[in-house]
Parts: sequence; C-alpha cells; structure tokens
Amino acid sequence: MSKQAHWETVYSEKSEDELSWHQATPSVSLELLDLAGLNKSMSAIDIGAGTSRLVDALLTRRLGDITLLDMSAAALEATRARLGAASASVRFTVCDVTSWQPSRCFDIWHDRAVFHFLVAPEERAAYIARLSESLKPGGHAVIATFALDGPEKCSGLPVMRYAPQTLAETLGADFDLIAQRHHLHHTPWGSAQSFQYSLFRKI
Ligand SMILES: C[S@@+](CC[C@H](N)C(=O)[O-])C[C@H]1O[C@@H](n2cnc3c(N)ncnc32)[C@H](O)[C@@H]1O
Repeated sequence: MSKQAHWETVYSEKSEDELSWHQATPSVSLELLDLAGLNKSMSAIDIGAGTSRLVDALLTRRLGDITLLDMSAAALEATRARLGAASASVRFTVCDVTSWQPSRCFDIWHDRAVFHFLVAPEERAAYIARLSESLKPGGHAVIATFALDGPEKCSGLPVMRYAPQTLAETLGADFDLIAQRHHLHHTPWGSAQSFQYSLFRKI
C-alpha cells in the first residue's frame, strides 16, 4: 500500500478517538509558537495537519493567512467540514511534503508527527529543502517528533526518533535551535508517548 493510500484509509475508517496522535488542545505547539512571537499578521503552514486542532487555535488568534498541507484529502476534508464557514479563510493543499513545490514563503512552519516518518535520507533531504525554501529568513519552525524514548512506530509505520540536538544536526546550520520541550502525550486510550518539540529560527 502506498503511503497516501495508508493515510486515506486511516482517516476514512477511523474516528478521532481511534487516532493515537489525537489531542484536544495543541498546548505545547502553541507555547512554542508564542515564544516565536505568534501574532495575527504572520503567515503559517501546518505540515501534515491531519485533523489537528492547531488551525482552530490559530483562527481564534485571528491569523488570516493559514495553509494546511497533508497527503490525505480525507483528513483535510474532515477539517474543512469541522471548521465550517471559518474554513473559507484557510488554504488546503493535498500533497506529499517531500514532493511539494512551494510557491511562496511563510513566517511559521509547524509539523507535529510528520518528519519522524521520513526514514530514508533522501526523503529527509527533500523535506529540509522545502523547509529551507518556504520559511522566511528569521521565520520559525516548530517540529515535534517521537523522542528517543518514544515508540518505534506511529500508525503502524516505522519512525525515526529524535532529541532536539539530533534534530538540529539533521536540519543543518541554517536553523538555530532556540527552545525545546519534552511532552508525554496520552493517546485517547490512555497510553503514554514521549515526544520532543523543538523551536527553530531560520538564520
Ligand atoms: C501522526 S499524524 C499527525 C497529524 C497532525 N499533525 C496532528 O498532530 O494531529 C501524521 C499526518 O501527516 C500526514 N503525512 C504523513 N506523511 C506525509 C507526507 N510525506 N506529506 C504530507 N503529509 C504527510 C498524514 O496524512 C497525517 O495526517
């Protein structure tokens, strides 16, 4: 099964409380975005947004320039339906981030539990090329992955686990690691998953 088919099946067949990564409030992401100076004049893209509630929080903070990117059309359709009329001010892009052709730049790049699926070096290089190309100089990226003591798989797929320092080394010298958090995520059925969240500033 292709990766895209995997994710379409997941979002078509499972309810939110069957998704291990579901969280009611993306509190650590928001804490780090606030450290980055999040304000309504900023543009933001959520990579692998899925059905995350981050967009709801960004709309509450009156951001008018929000893009959600995901390889699953079903996930973005579910988000569009949940937002209702508010979705009119959000851009939805269905594609694989590793083959995406960005046509503009953003102040904020957010990724929770997407980069860790890129287990092949060429996939990581493709992701980092898109991050470099589409984040403004001085812009900020929040990247959350399973931590070194986190699970070895997510949604049944193998993942790479990171510490903030190893993630910083992977991204390269163009990105300054300016803050980090460890977070114990509890799945909807109560299992604990260890995440690291890193905030980078593009030089
Ligand atoms: C574990 S879920 C996390 C969803 C969301 N970020 C959250 O925190 O709730 C991973 C998401 O990334 C998407 N995804 C996985 N690989 C991707 C890729 N290469 N390009 C774009 N989206 C991808 C999946 O469809 C899924 O929605």
